[in-house]
Amino acid sequence: MDTALNYNYRVVKQFAIATVVWGVVGMLVGVIIAAQLAWPALNFDTAWLTYGRLRPLHTNAVIFAFGGCALFATSYYVVQRTCQVRLFSDTLASFTFWGWQLVIVAAAVSLPLGYTSGKEYAELEWPIDILIALVWVSYAVVFFGTLIKRKTSHIYVANWFYGAFILTVAVLHIVNSAAMPATMTKSYSAYTGVQDAMIQWWYGHNAVGFFLTAGFLGMMYYFIPKQAERPVFSYRLSIVHFWALIFTYMWAGPHHLHYTALPDWAQSLGMVFSLILLAPSWGGMINGIMTLSGAWHKLRSDPILKFLVVSLSFYGMSTFEGPMMSIKTVNALSHYTDWTVGHVHSGALGWVGLVSMGSIYYLIPRLSGKKEMWSVKLIEWHFWTATIGIVLYIASMWIAGVMQGLMWRAVNTDGTLTYTFVEGVKATFPYYVIRVSGGALYLGGMLMMAFNVFKTVIDGQAVDARIPVATGAHA
Ligand code: HEM
Ligand code: HEM
Repeated sequence: MDTALNYNYRVVKQFAIATVVWGVVGMLVGVIIAAQLAWPALNFDTAWLTYGRLRPLHTNAVIFAFGGCALFATSYYVVQRTCQVRLFSDTLASFTFWGWQLVIVAAAVSLPLGYTSGKEYAELEWPIDILIALVWVSYAVVFFGTLIKRKTSHIYVANWFYGAFILTVAVLHIVNSAAMPATMTKSYSAYTGVQDAMIQWWYGHNAVGFFLTAGFLGMMYYFIPKQAERPVFSYRLSIVHFWALIFTYMWAGPHHLHYTALPDWAQSLGMVFSLILLAPSWGGMINGIMTLSGAWHKLRSDPILKFLVVSLSFYGMSTFEGPMMSIKTVNALSHYTDWTVGHVHSGALGWVGLVSMGSIYYLIPRLSGKKEMWSVKLIEWHFWTATIGIVLYIASMWIAGVMQGLMWRAVNTDGTLTYTFVEGVKATFPYYVIRVSGGALYLGGMLMMAFNVFKTVIDGQAVDARIPVATGAHA
């Protein structure tokens, strides 16, 4: 096979399959920790099985392993198809795959053993951080190298989002991980006190904005028009969306530090930018949903489109809820409660999860020489199981969260607290059980996907891998 005439589908397929595998693992750990919160006996008095160690394993597995592999797979596919050239370097692309898997395995071993930097979403210790930086720089070289050698005249908007995600995550990771190593498994942050907190949440919030949002918007801008067979609703809006979103996200981090030692003006600045963020977020969502104009009927029969479009509804919901929660007086109620966890999962399960699943369902048959997935019916089943699971998860957490907030602040006329803390914990129990059932449904859907993908790829070979000779149009 003359590789110069073909797209590199191998690395795309590797990442696509890894997405499914890590999705199952990460969500399984999610269900386990959800069950531990309901029934603490499930910690089994075993250090590496305790909630405190499994929780970061869950967040790292779902965000960086499941979400990360989905981003690698789709960005490598989209950048090749829209630039009509093969990836810049096969060797570097392969290094990003194996390097990233090594990072994931290192996380899966070191976190249960209790090694952690203590920074949320950046828990991995310094040797793993260095490996991440190496993989990420290689990713940037492959992605931007491919853009540079493109045969098309302009850069399709999906690539703008992927590019911003890759560049920003590099900067966030390198700045926030700066630390002084003490031993191979222990380091101390380069920052102290409130500066440390601010840098951590500048990182944390932009991890949401760029890792969990910008890259997935890249997916939206490619896979929704493709699956709906309609052009993007407004190309002009997509450009405004891009610049407004990336400019605004950068300033919103302080909403994670309301009522802390952070100067009050910085907290208010974070709140104002979070409120402004509603506009670009909804502009993007509307652009994605309106792309279906004239194709709404397809939603009835096409489960992949259902995944993609419903993901946007959850994106709209969580980006309305987020700005509301950033208002200081609302945050005074929501912070520390399960409301935050409900918000997180309406974005994570609803937006990030569903858009990734829809995109991977689009890719797998094309990477395996099949017209469609082994069972379209099973995709439909997956969709409904996952959607019911999300609703159970987020509705139970909203109720639990608001209830907790109200119980904690309730005071008697003599100034004493109305409820002890343990009364709040007892009242939360039924909602934790509902969350376990919602999570189990979501995981069940993921298992259906794994089976369907396995059946589709088992004897597959890539189709449509030849790069077209004519240039100028998008593929
Ligand atoms: C079967 C599906 C899932 C279940 C049952 C689940 C369950 C949980 C539980 C129990 C927690 C800890 C909450 C707490 O500390 O009170 C958690 C945290 C978290 N999960 Fe999940 N999860 C699932 C899927 C996902 C996915 C797919 C993502 C991301 C793409 C995700 C992202 C997160 C994040 C970011 C946190 C930390 C939230 C915070 O600190 O406020 N989860 N999850
Ligand atoms: C306009 C967009 C958004 C805004 C303004 C926003 C705002 C907020 C606010 C105010 C909090 C609570 C902070 C606290 O009390 O500690 C929060 C937490 C969080 N949000 Fe959002 N949110 C937005 C969208 C999203 C989306 C789309 C996702 C996921 C894909 C997401 C993921 C998270 C996570 C993971 C946390 C928990 C962080 C932690 O404490 O560990 N957010 N967000």
